[in-house]
Amino acid sequence: MRRVVCPGSFDPVTNGHLDIIGRASGLYDEVVVAVLINITKKSLFTVDERVEMLREVTAGYGNVRVERFHGLLVDFCAANGITTVVKGLRAVSDFEYEMQMAQMNYRLAKVETLFMTSNPLYSFLSSSLIKEIAKYGGDVSGLVPEAVRGELRTRLPEAE
Ligand code: PNS
Repeated sequence: MRRVVCPGSFDPVTNGHLDIIGRASGLYDEVVVAVLINITKKSLFTVDERVEMLREVTAGYGNVRVERFHGLLVDFCAANGITTVVKGLRAVSDFEYEMQMAQMNYRLAKVETLFMTSNPLYSFLSSSLIKEIAKYGGDVSGLVPEAVRGELRTRLPEAE
């Protein structure tokens, strides 16, 4: 089985993430979306909430499963029979850090990274910007799945 991991914080999942997950699901037998458990990073949604939202918005894909992980991504890969990471690249600014991680993951465990150029419709999108816009009542429709928009409204009551 050709399996790939799509790792991230997903706080929250955006339409840019979903675009990459959906395209990867057409290329691989199985896509494992792996949500990083990072207790040192302040997040809006808990890991459980992020996993729940991801499961809801990827339910239409028969070959996508959502898991959580902590520690090194390469260890998660080894434990799950995965040799490839898929990442979206939005702009040149993403490239330097992503290349460093890709090279390190290859050096650590020969885990390959495939970069997919993001859909230009979403190349300006980030979870951080979504949270900021929602916090101040901006309109995030079309940028995150409807279910996520609803959760943002509940979590940030001043939104919209
Ligand atoms: O959505 P993010 O926060 O940009 O995702 C970053 C993520 C989770 C892919 C990256 O931080 C990661 O892989 N963390 C796990 C720890 C690890 O393996 N670190 C060494 C990377 S070379």
